[in-house]
Amino acid sequence: MRHQNHHASLGVTREHRKSMMSNMAASLITHGRIKTTLAKARALRPFVDEGDNKAFPESLSGVAAQGKLVYEDLGCIVCHTQQVRRPGFGTDDKRHWGDRQSVARDYVREARPLIGSSRLGPDLRNVGARQTGDEGRAWHYKHLYEAQLTSPGSNMPSYPFLFETRKAVGQYSAKSIQKALPPSEQPPAGFEIVPTHRGEALVEYLLSLKDTYNFPDEATRVYTPPKAEGAGGAKKPEAKPEGHK
Ligand code: HEC
Repeated sequence: MRHQNHHASLGVTREHRKSMMSNMAASLITHGRIKTTLAKARALRPFVDEGDNKAFPESLSGVAAQGKLVYEDLGCIVCHTQQVRRPGFGTDDKRHWGDRQSVARDYVREARPLIGSSRLGPDLRNVGARQTGDEGRAWHYKHLYEAQLTSPGSNMPSYPFLFETRKAVGQYSAKSIQKALPPSEQPPAGFEIVPTHRGEALVEYLLSLKDTYNFPDEATRVYTPPKAEGAGGAKKPEAKPEGHK
């Protein structure tokens, strides 16, 4: 049976272990990789929440995992990062790119974390918390089909090859997206525009991107800005973060 308070001690005190973990998180975020011992890496395994009967971060569904490959293939990483910086290092929190900074554990299930280094577009680590459900799905399709339609002035490329125009047999398919498109983009009568399998997988991946889970020791590794003079100081991290969202 695994308890929430069970950690590999790694032969060091609790305080030392905490700072080691936060250094590992920081080096992952700075360099995109960590060089460490196997024992230390194992200490960063998913957190098992017995109440929820789940291990966080959750693994990607099969389709979303395929979508990750499409994301890699199309080079989305050239313009998008997947790492939320801590308060004081940029304005990620004010831009609502995440409620907390990214920590090493967020990436433990990823053989190739797609952290990125250049931000021509927004950070996408929590885009699945901003764009959700069917509405989010429809938004992504429209945006990928032609970024100008959802985001006028955007310099994100369009990906029309993630869609196909096919003859509609009987009723339009539930997957068809032309309802959301302007008159100039409508297919000829009797035809419909549907995402390809790669398009669908990519959008499921985007919808899955969110690090909104909490685990008991997370707060201890999250940087809090030093006390500002006269301003009442930084908020103390909560000893026990609230439950999963
Ligand atoms: C040339 C740079 C560039 C590339 C390549 C690029 N994007 Fe973007 N992306 C942007 C910019 C700029 C924005 C902000 C304007 C907008 O919404 O279109 C953006 C916005 C987004 C958003 C909305 C984020 C939000 O916070 O609302 C998503 C989702 C997205 N991109 C996904 C992708 C995916 C998936 C790919 C690869 C298929 C990709 N982008 C490739 C530049 C890029």
